[in-house]
Amino acid sequence: MSSVEVAGLSKIYQAAGLMPTDLTIDDGEFVVIVGPSGCGKSTLLRLIAGLDEPSAGQVLIDGRDVTAAGPADRGLAMVFQSYALYPHLTVAQNIAFPLTMARRPKAEIAARVAAVAATLELGDLLDRRPRALSGGQRQRVSIGRAIIRNPGVLLLDEPLSNLDAALRVRMRHEFARLHQRLATTMIYVTHDQVEAMTLANRIVVMARGRVEQVGAPLDLYRTPATIGVAVAIGSPSINLLPVTIVASDSGGTTVRLPAGTICRVAARLPSNMVGARATLGVRPEHLRADAEGSFSGVVELFERLGPLSFAHLAAPDGGDALVAQLPSDRHVTLGERIAFAVDSADALLFAADGAAFARLSP
Ligand SMILES: Nc1ncnc2c1ncn2[C@@H]1O[C@H](COP(=O)(O)OP(=O)(O)O)[C@@H](O)[C@H]1O
Ligand SMILES: [Mg+2]
Repeated sequence: MSSVEVAGLSKIYQAAGLMPTDLTIDDGEFVVIVGPSGCGKSTLLRLIAGLDEPSAGQVLIDGRDVTAAGPADRGLAMVFQSYALYPHLTVAQNIAFPLTMARRPKAEIAARVAAVAATLELGDLLDRRPRALSGGQRQRVSIGRAIIRNPGVLLLDEPLSNLDAALRVRMRHEFARLHQRLATTMIYVTHDQVEAMTLANRIVVMARGRVEQVGAPLDLYRTPATIGVAVAIGSPSINLLPVTIVASDSGGTTVRLPAGTICRVAARLPSNMVGARATLGVRPEHLRADAEGSFSGVVELFERLGPLSFAHLAAPDGGDALVAQLPSDRHVTLGERIAFAVDSADALLFAADGAAFARLSP
């Protein structure tokens, strides 16, 4: 296990890259990095791994400055989206590869391969070649190759994105178990909501080359610091509506929706914001069917996902669309108009620059 710290770490490419970033990851933590494509997730991981050279800043592992050290001297290992196995080597040889390169004794290599294969349930596959393996098995081999040297930190860049849905779920459970078993510090990049929410001790949300917020999954879900974080956490995505501030006092804030109706938000605003434009955020699971409610729309699409159902609604005037979670026994017809209410404590309010207004504690 190792701690990881980056200080003022940046990478300047012509257009984008990574803005100066500070981040501290504790010993044994499972940190998940999420954010839209191109926001700098892989860049951050590659800088930590030593695969790219930073434009500025430092990387510290266990307090030791490794910024100038090569990838092999950082005590970490990386797993990529493409498994990059050697096709002509067997599973055992692929897993053993880092130890073979380091010219470790044969007996040690055999013992380590056996231990890793047992951890990853690859014992029966050791003599096969990669082409005779399923996607999930290949990914397990690439993980085996990464952990064979007992890295203090395991870096994983979208390791499951090439797998089908069922396999992703199984592998997600395997990562959770692996983390418990190895107690290795893990930094895991994904764009999958569920992976992030279920695996992470803490989630790092990135956007446009910077870290927007770091926190426990539920804290980010409940108290996103920005619109970007609110959109990144939660599935289906939070509904965003342009609103106007009507009134605000110590008890909360009243906003006017595009439809002209009024909604109460448990948020505290700076004084003299009345009349200002803002963005209201309401999660699909917080919209409650209520004939008197301020939100409404016409059902365009209805998805029944077993225990959960989601209605995609269009505003009657062609305004902003809305996604609402409905009880699974709710009968819905396409074209039906449904009205919803939201508890003021569940509504989020964001300023024009995307920063969340402080929530009133319940
Ligand atoms: N080697 C490179 N040369 C030029 N630009 C790059 C290079 N690698 C990444 N970038 C740019 O840096 C940004 C972040 O990329 P990346 O870290 O791969 O994003 P992510 O992994 O979040 O999808 C993107 O705009 C990408 O085009
Ligand atoms: Mg990437």
